This record gives sequence, structure tokens and C-alpha cells, in this order.
Amino acid sequence: MTDYQTFVDADGIEWLRICRSAEVHERHGKRIEIDVEFDLALFRVSGNVHCVSNVCPHKRMPVIYDGVIEHGIVTCPMHGWRYDVRTGQKDAGTSKLPCYQTREEDGWVYVNLQ
Ligand code: FES
Repeated sequence: MTDYQTFVDADGIEWLRICRSAEVHERHGKRIEIDVEFDLALFRVSGNVHCVSNVCPHKRMPVIYDGVIEHGIVTCPMHGWRYDVRTGQKDAGTSKLPCYQTREEDGWVYVNLQ
């Protein structure tokens, strides 16, 4: 595992610094592999960074970052399941991508993995 800097905010939430803000663009996902447990996909929607699991629940494929994203909805490139990257929710049914809180500060993206 890469050494990521962390800090704990006033509410006791631990934030992991995972990449530069400039690396997360509106039209393309970015993959961050923290470790085997946390394989993440970052997306920027209307200026805000969102973080979901990179692993599609359908066939457990680590491909979400590579999906086409439009209006906050990413389409899995394998079989077309669609998820809202702001909530992780699939467009129908109960499947969901785990979704993680993010923040940007001083040109960095932080994620709360709890
Ligand atoms: S692996 Fe994502 S839709 Fe099948």
C-alpha cells in the first residue's frame, strides 16, 4: 500500500489524501487503488469530486472508472449497468456501489473510507 497522508478533522473523521484535484476531470473517471479492500473510482460532476467503489457488483469487475459518465451517471463498460456516482445507487434494483465522502482542500482530494 502506498503511504497516503491522513488527517483527522474536528469531528473525528479521518481523511486520506489520495490525489491532486487537477487529476480528476469532468468527463473521465480516475482509478485509485488503495489496497485490495479499497479500489476506488473518482469522478467530477458539476465541479464536485465523488468517490465510489471501482468494482462493479454485477461480476465483481474493477472497471467502473473506465465507464462513460453523463450527468452524474456512469455506465459500466462491461455490461451496461448504470450507477449514480453521487450516491452509488444503481438505476434500478437494489445493487449499489459503496460510496465514500470526499473533500477538496488546497488542491488535493481527500476521501473518508469509514
Ligand atoms: S460487470 Fe459491470 S455491468 Fe457487468
